[in-house]
Amino acid sequence: NKFKSDKLLLFGATGDLSRRMLLPSLCALDAEGLLDPQIEIIGTARSDLDDQGFRNFAREALEQFLAPERRGSLATFLNRLSYQQLDATDIDGFAALAEKVGEPKAGLSIFLSTAPSLFEPTIRGLEQNGLAGDHVRIGLEKPLGVDLESSKVINDAVASAFPEERIYRIDHYLGKETVQNLLALRFANLMFEPLWNAAHINHVQITVAETVGLESRVGYYDDSGALRDMVQNHMLQLLALVAMEPPVSYDATNVRDEKVKVLRSLRKIKVDETVTGQYRAGAISGAAVPGYDEELGKPSKTETFVAIKAHIDNWRWQGVPFYLRTGKRLPKRTTEIVVQFRDVPHSIFSGRGAKTVPNRLVISLQPDENITLSLMAKMPGLDREGFGLRSIPLAISMPDAFAGPQRRIAYERLWLDLIEGDQTLFVRRDEVEAQWEWIDAIRTAWEEQATEPKTYTAGSWGPSSAIALAERDGVTWHE
Ligand code: BG6
Repeated sequence: NKFKSDKLLLFGATGDLSRRMLLPSLCALDAEGLLDPQIEIIGTARSDLDDQGFRNFAREALEQFLAPERRGSLATFLNRLSYQQLDATDIDGFAALAEKVGEPKAGLSIFLSTAPSLFEPTIRGLEQNGLAGDHVRIGLEKPLGVDLESSKVINDAVASAFPEERIYRIDHYLGKETVQNLLALRFANLMFEPLWNAAHINHVQITVAETVGLESRVGYYDDSGALRDMVQNHMLQLLALVAMEPPVSYDATNVRDEKVKVLRSLRKIKVDETVTGQYRAGAISGAAVPGYDEELGKPSKTETFVAIKAHIDNWRWQGVPFYLRTGKRLPKRTTEIVVQFRDVPHSIFSGRGAKTVPNRLVISLQPDENITLSLMAKMPGLDREGFGLRSIPLAISMPDAFAGPQRRIAYERLWLDLIEGDQTLFVRRDEVEAQWEWIDAIRTAWEEQATEPKTYTAGSWGPSSAIALAERDGVTWHE
């Protein structure tokens, strides 16, 4: 299964993800010489284009979404592209596609960046036209269903043509350098792991805040909502990486075995451990923005914000809440993990200013990549009435520590792994299903109790009850 693909077949080639991420990341890899010099990239979609039309489409996308210094020779990259029009629901169209793809020398990687409703007919078309053999891998973009049942239908359809070792389910957060760095931090340092448990950690916070609103994804987002769009996948993957046991080694089986154990240990959530919200008109960085229903053009009950107090029922994490929150139209774009340690068991210091503040590790993934550990230090001075203590940051900025290429697109790593056959950063079927199982239970509970999202002003940190969710445990969200 370790063949290196020399052909790529991209479904949904004229879609938004292709324009913003997939083509730019391929071009950036090519510019760095990381793609096979003979690689051929075949795009397919419903749009009526020929090879040249697709190259024009790609050129515009690259000029808009890839920094000039990362583009290399555009002409070389564009020459690798060709295009075959296809309506995936028309099974007869696949013969021409197979002909266009031709025989790869070593292997073919296929990537489906289409509506999941097209996955099943696509798989059938591929299988019937010799595009699912042992030399073929398939990558799947989210969403993989809307609940456990629908995700099983998709997974079964894909499994009917491809074995699990050749299925690559994308969660683009796993392609982010800083997410992988979380593993280095935990498992390439001695000092965190002995403290990484309920005896020393009070709670964990994971925040994924966005300033954008609905963008142009009207149909998709309103059917999905924040829980399914962000928590089911990205946030649960972050949680699993923070909480998992040390894997035996960094490889696909061992890493994913440990993540799935965490996902299966998630306790079923009670409704009062969740808060949902939907933004109303407000302002972000001083600019007025409309409310969700105005953007959508109709009233809706879809949540654009969710906060959850999660629990992991295993030995390591008993009694340690994991507070998760994500939302659109929050005051700033930030993704961070906060590990809040417990206070020292007994303070030897007394007097004015001698109070200790528990240590806190903040791993910031976006927009800045840095790691900050707050430590207590003595305030300089000759104060005779107390031992002045102050919490000060020990801070590492990743860009400063590693002056290197500018930030990569997460898909660069994922494309390379798909082409070369490394599944470590892709989501296994049992993980996806464990994620859906937990999410479905939350949605069922919301439905049973007819929970409706509370409103929040765009540019605020969500409904006030989200603050209360943490505050009733004496916890403040990190800002
Ligand atoms: C996607 C969601 O998976 O992730 C979007 O569908 C969200 O709603 C995006 O905006 C966030 O990704 P990133 O990489 O910008 O944090």
